[in-house]
Parts: sequence; structure tokens; C-alpha cells
Amino acid sequence: MSISIPAGLTELLQGFTVEVLRSQPGDLLEFALQYFGRLKAEAAESGAGGGSPAPGHERGSLPPRRAPARGVSFAEEPVPSESESGDEEEEFAAPAINRFIRRASVCAEAYNPDEEEDDTESRIIYPKTDDQRNRLQEACKDILLFKNLDPEQMSQVLDAMFEKLVEGGEHVIDQGDDGDNFYVIDRGTYDIYVKCDSVGRCVGTYDNHGSFGELALMYNTPRAATIIATSPGAVWGLDRVTFRRIIVKNNAKKRRMYESFIQSLPFLKSLELSERLKVVDVIGTKIYKDGEQIIAQGDMADCFFIVESGEVKITMKRKNKQDVEENGAVEIARYSRGQYFGELALVTNKPRAASAFALGTVKCLVMDVQAFERLLGPCMEIMKRNITNYEEQLVALFGTNMDIADPSA
Ligand code: CMP
Ligand code: CMP
Repeated sequence: MSISIPAGLTELLQGFTVEVLRSQPGDLLEFALQYFGRLKAEAAESGAGGGSPAPGHERGSLPPRRAPARGVSFAEEPVPSESESGDEEEEFAAPAINRFIRRASVCAEAYNPDEEEDDTESRIIYPKTDDQRNRLQEACKDILLFKNLDPEQMSQVLDAMFEKLVEGGEHVIDQGDDGDNFYVIDRGTYDIYVKCDSVGRCVGTYDNHGSFGELALMYNTPRAATIIATSPGAVWGLDRVTFRRIIVKNNAKKRRMYESFIQSLPFLKSLELSERLKVVDVIGTKIYKDGEQIIAQGDMADCFFIVESGEVKITMKRKNKQDVEENGAVEIARYSRGQYFGELALVTNKPRAASAFALGTVKCLVMDVQAFERLLGPCMEIMKRNITNYEEQLVALFGTNMDIADPSA
């Protein structure tokens, strides 16, 4: 008896198998449903045209911080958000139709770090003065996306970066545009606007350090926000080709190292699989020596920590009625693998409520405040429950909750 194999069956199953092997989903049936559903939607969409959704519009986002919500009008059409398009699985979203797409693929994933070609021939070098090199090194030393690079990769990145002066009011990035460069801030302040119904809302700011513009390059999507300089300043640009060749390639390694760890964290359980992968993509690792201070009580906060290994001690100095710190810090918590800290100041937009120190060598996964706000909205319920526990603990220890969670204090 001869059995005829329907046209396309082999490719269909091969594409699916490759994605299963790459993503190692916990729930195969759920993964299959999403995969084939997406494929069907893409097939329908490719008939009608259209692009991919912009990332960065996750549900349950936090209230704006630091800068008040302000309105800015945008001439272009708003980019549909994930919730508008009903598209939660970024991993399988059709890639944006733009001039940078070089391949067609059966499963059409927007982000496939393993398949980035290693075109070392196209190495870009911008000569720099000593002053430029020093400033560039200083600006890049805390950039999380660079943390896992080896020295050769880092040196190629530094060589390829070029200085761009910006004027106050200049749009460094416009939401909806194709992504050309990733930017590291040398100096200056910048507002982040995200469009909603053609009106841009200021969702955050950068103050003389940090980086932006990675999302469009990582996921082949249109720019997800508008970045406007609010003072004269300068940024270091890294072109798209070098970014993909080095950073995206390195992210494939990061995914292999951290995917299952991130999947196992109970406080991230409200995130979809694709959202957890985005968390892996933006984290950097930092190592602290025994006794080293990780966080200082009273400092302004710009990142969030997850303990990968070792133990972290949290201490707090109590204040008296005149708001003066009394001598001696009290240990209030210890954290080990899989636990997080440093969320409180980001949620309340207040200075660090306590200090954190390494006990022995400690390795932490670190996420910057912009990624925290963009990606961890769905986890806020769990985090806020823990903040209530902190208050109870402080009342038991000090007889007061130290106003840690009162944003108006
Ligand atoms: P990209 O989409 O390439 O360009 C705009 C950049 O703004 C984006 O990458 C991020 O680096 C940065 N950004 C900061 N906050 C947000 C946010 N809430 N949503 C989207 N992008 C953001
Ligand atoms: P943050 O205020 O950003 O920095 C210090 C961190 O210590 C804080 O976030 C919490 O993650 C953590 N912490 C642990 N226990 C407490 C507590 N009882 N009160 C305040 N912060 C605590």
C-alpha cells in the first residue's frame, strides 16, 4: 500500500521540532497550540500584509516613575501594542517587514540568535582619541548587555562604537522606525515616550547613564519607544550588524545558561514563556567578593537583583524620631539562589530602604530599571505581597514600618 505524504508536512514538522528542541517547553501541548496557532495567523496575515507588534507594551505595567506623565503628539500611526494585537508570544511573531530582514524561515521567528551568521569580515572600527576611549570605557562599564562578553568581543564592540553628539530636544529614536543602532549614554538626560492612541506618555528617563535601542535590533521589531534628549549630550552608537553579530549571538549562550534557572523562579511564574526569555535577554551577571556592598541604604536605585549563587545579607540602619540614623545596622534578611532583592526602591520610587552585602562570593543576575518596569509588571502582585511582609517584619523589629512603602513619604 502506498501512502502519500501531503505537500509541506515534512517542513511543517521539522520547523516545529526545531522550535521544541530550541525552547525546551515545559508544556508540549500548550507550546504546540501556540506554535501552530501563530503559524496559521501568520499565513493569514502574509496574505493581507502587515508587520510585527512592537515589544514593550506588556500588560500590567507600572505607573510612570521619576518624570510625570506628559503628552507629546506623534504624526505617525501608533505601533500596535501586544495587547492590541493579542500577540503574547513574541518568540513566534512574524518579523517586521523592513530592510534588515535577510532570511525567510519556515517558523518565521523574530529572534533566532543561534542562526546569526558570523560575518567577521564586516568588522567596523572607528578610530578614537584617548579622551574618547576613556569616556567610552567609563560609559560602558555598567552596561548589562555587555557584562557577559569575553574580552575579544568587548574590544570589537568598543572599536565599532562611534560618538554622536545630541542637542536638547533631539529625537535620538522615534517609535515605529526601523532599528539602526544601539546607544550607550555618554552624558545628558533623555525622556522615554511610549505612544498610546497617537499620544506619547513619558514612561521614564535616563540620567547621564544607561543604554537604549536594543529591542528593535534583538527582535527585528520597529522601535518600541521614542527617546528625546532633554539636555545637550552625547551617546555612543553601535551599528545593528555588529550588535547582532556579537550581542545577539552572546544572548544565545545566555539563554542556554539561564533559561531553566529563570523558568524555575516562583516569583516570575506570572510571565509567559516568551516574556521569561526576554528577561534572560536583558540581564547581566555581576560577581561580588566576600563583604562587598551590593546596595547602600539611602542611595538612588537603578537596578534589580536575583541571586544566582552565594548568600546576600540585608541590613538596615534604624532612624530615630528626628529622622537621624542611629548607630549600627541590624540584619533583617538573608537571600540565596533564586531569591530577589532591590525591587522595593524601583516599585516605590524611593531611595534604597536597606543595604545588601555579599557573604562569600556572590553572583547576581541584574536587570536595569527600564527592563524591570517593562517586563515585570505581571509579577507585581507577588512582589507587593512580599513588601507587606517587610513592613510587618520592620514593625516587629523596630516598632515602626520605617515608611518603606509609602511613596509620598
Ligand atoms: P528599541 O525598541 O530598539 O528603541 C526604543 C528603546 O527605548 C527600546 O529599544 C528600549 O531600549 C527603550 N525603552 C525604555 N523603556 C521602554 C519601554 N517602557 N518600552 C519600550 N522601550 C523602552
Ligand atoms: P530596595 O529598597 O530597593 O533595596 C534594599 C532591599 O532590601 C529592598 O529593596 C528589599 O528587596 C530588601 N529587603 C529585605 N527585607 C526588607 C525589609 N524588611 N524592608 C525593606 N527592604 C527589605
